Amino acid sequence: MGNKHIVRFEPVGIEIEVDEDQNILRAAAEQGVQLMHGCKEGQCAACKSFVLEGEDIDYDSYSTFALPDYEKEEGQTLLCRAHAYEDLVIELLNYDEEIIRSGLPLKKGVAEVVSN
Ligand code: FES
Repeated sequence: MGNKHIVRFEPVGIEIEVDEDQNILRAAAEQGVQLMHGCKEGQCAACKSFVLEGEDIDYDSYSTFALPDYEKEEGQTLLCRAHAYEDLVIELLNYDEEIIRSGLPLKKGVAEVVSN
């Protein structure tokens, strides 16, 4: 577990807490926020978004076809590959107002196998 930071999504005004060890897409899903995505591997660009505030972001490997260097320098990001190392404000370029709030947060539980 790393340090945690707040990521706010605009224009929907949703905030989530993101551990440095998680990518932003995964952290959102775990908190019930359903963001647009496809491959989750930095290949398709479906999760491409724009960084409005903050710049301390580290990336897992991704395709430069999905995020060319010039787009990254302009502030675009791939949420499935991005790890926040400070509080961020992200503008979602693609989202569905109904779907984004339709998820349920993941909960950890304990189960016992009584027979097999
Ligand atoms: S989901 Fe495909 S690049 Fe992020």
